[in-house]
Amino acid sequence: ALRLGTQISRDRLRAFKFGCGGSRRSLKVAVVGAVGGIGQPLALLLKQNPHISRLSLHDLRNTAGVAADLSHINSRATVCHFEGKDGLKKAMDKADIVVVPAGLPRKPGMKREDLVGVNASVACEVAHAASAVCPGALLALITNPINVIVPIVATILQAKGTYDPNRLFGVTSLDVVRSKAFIGDFLNVDPQTVDLPVIGGHTGRTILPILSQCQPTYKGTDEERKALIKRIQEAGTEVVNAKDGLGSATLSMAYAASHFVNSLIRGIKGSKDECIVECAYVDSDVTEAKFFATQLILGPQGIKENLGLPEMDDEEKQALESMLPLLKKSIENGIKLGMEMA
Ligand code: LMR
Repeated sequence: ALRLGTQISRDRLRAFKFGCGGSRRSLKVAVVGAVGGIGQPLALLLKQNPHISRLSLHDLRNTAGVAADLSHINSRATVCHFEGKDGLKKAMDKADIVVVPAGLPRKPGMKREDLVGVNASVACEVAHAASAVCPGALLALITNPINVIVPIVATILQAKGTYDPNRLFGVTSLDVVRSKAFIGDFLNVDPQTVDLPVIGGHTGRTILPILSQCQPTYKGTDEERKALIKRIQEAGTEVVNAKDGLGSATLSMAYAASHFVNSLIRGIKGSKDECIVECAYVDSDVTEAKFFATQLILGPQGIKENLGLPEMDDEEKQALESMLPLLKKSIENGIKLGMEMA
């Protein structure tokens, strides 16, 4: 503890207040789509991470106001802002992490796949910019349809010679966050204490919560279990319908994505005593699908280890088998689009 009158340097005082240890490297995080419904709360949450020294905001327009607003928060990150096509490379220049909520959300009646036409171009621009100005960055994509967008970006990066499969992530954390929330409610326990893998992709039947591995043990009737899985798989649509034309999940998505980015940062910081495990949709040889979400151990270079398929009961194995063709079709579509756009 500090005694009154102790001489202490400003640096030591900082370390005392904010903690030290691990790598002291300062980190630049770029948010592409920072003015949108997800982008703003996401930027707000990231502004609170003391390891981020530079928070770079990009959007088509109106970034100045969001940046001015955030810059009045007395946390470490300095905030810079860029706009339009020309600003994208400047925003992403030498970034350590690029997180991408940019793109259009769906409206009631739409499937995530219906967004490919508009959102593929966003993915394409991000991939080209990343190849040019931050080829070593960890890329965390939120833009829908994730099942297709991640293969698009991977294919473009591959064509540019800058693809590192350990550094590209489709953010599926919201599926885990939702599963924990719904199971916590059902079991009447704190959702923060719930843990389970959610594997596959990020739409409908491709989202596979592995309830058999849930901690604490999930106990429910067959009917309750089916209803719970259905609710997790259709949770995005539940929000889209509740928002009634005003978009899709923004706040819970920002929460889940910031949690994921914070985990990427903990991985970069590389604390030896900490094992950082997150689910994300990544390049994979775990199943026949070339991209697949499983639990990953994160480290300084992104994915340190893919934990592969969890143990599953017969119903879960069957659900996996039956959704794989759907997921594979989306991936093939993504690779084809990526080749056209490379
Ligand atoms: C979600 O899961 O909420 C997002 O993917 C947005 C959507 O369209 O459902």
